[in-house]
Amino acid sequence: MKGIILAGGTGSRLFPNTIAVSKQLLPVYDKPLVYYPLSVLMLAEIREILIISTEADLPHYQKLLGDGSQWGISLRYAVQTAPRGLADAFLVGEKFIGSDSVCLVLGDNVFYGQNLSLLLQNAKKSVENGGAVIFGCMVKDPREFGVVEFDEQNKVLSIEEKPVCPKSSYAVPGLYIYDNQVIGIARKVTPSARGEIEITAVNNEYLDRGQLTVTLMGRGISWLDTGSPKGMHKASGFVKTVQEMQGFYIACIEEIAWRKGFISTEQLHQLGEQLAMTDYGKYILSIAEEGIK
Ligand code: DAU
Repeated sequence: MKGIILAGGTGSRLFPNTIAVSKQLLPVYDKPLVYYPLSVLMLAEIREILIISTEADLPHYQKLLGDGSQWGISLRYAVQTAPRGLADAFLVGEKFIGSDSVCLVLGDNVFYGQNLSLLLQNAKKSVENGGAVIFGCMVKDPREFGVVEFDEQNKVLSIEEKPVCPKSSYAVPGLYIYDNQVIGIARKVTPSARGEIEITAVNNEYLDRGQLTVTLMGRGISWLDTGSPKGMHKASGFVKTVQEMQGFYIACIEEIAWRKGFISTEQLHQLGEQLAMTDYGKYILSIAEEGIK
């Protein structure tokens, strides 16, 4: 399975923060926002990843993340020339996906929780047999999101994009896993009223084909909003609190690469040394010295 991080857009809801800097490069506490979705793909053991952004911003992602070999993964890059919609990721990434299945994660979505890795592995396995898996998260105000309505057996009844009157409190977060049909489906999606080729249209097509599964992210998993300055601030506070209280880091790419066996303890140590002047680097070094997975 391939992975795509969509990290383009204008970031206009965060202006002036994002006039000169891509939103997904802004810090969420001690690391850039894009580390969080990258950590999700790595937890799913997806090692071939395409990062899509604007022509102006892509060089900054390349500078930050490189070719991924330092973390035992492969990172490639592609330009989205205009924010045509989330489903455009599959058209920009068509060659990269090839005949594979694909997991799309939005570059501004932060997930954290104990069972995340297991949840992702299960979703991945399911899609490798065909179809699509999306997720449902309970939120206070679902009107800003794709909203899923389902019955007690988790069978999806409908999905609506930013409904005025939502049919449930379950929002669809920016994490989607599809089989290879997604390329053909995305090609046929026509722009919505807001002029975008919507991911919700893709999900509805899978629903019509009887091939869409929704998996609920329960209390154990947090999905954090970064859509506004307040959301960014809250997300930073959440990461700081969890890291300080539990002693575990959220979205420490180096740690995940090591725990997943993508890099050796010696490589982890070297990565820690490069960042040893920060708490983040010291954390990596402490794990490498412990050496116990
Ligand atoms: O965050 C989850 C929500 O993401 C879902 O519940 C919605 O169904 C889905 O449509 C999407 O809603 P948003 O209105 O939040 O999407 P937004 O346009 O803000 O785009 C999400 C991110 O993707 C944002 O960081 C910018 C980036 N993006 C967006 C578009 C439309 C791109 O890189 N390229 C694009 O063409």
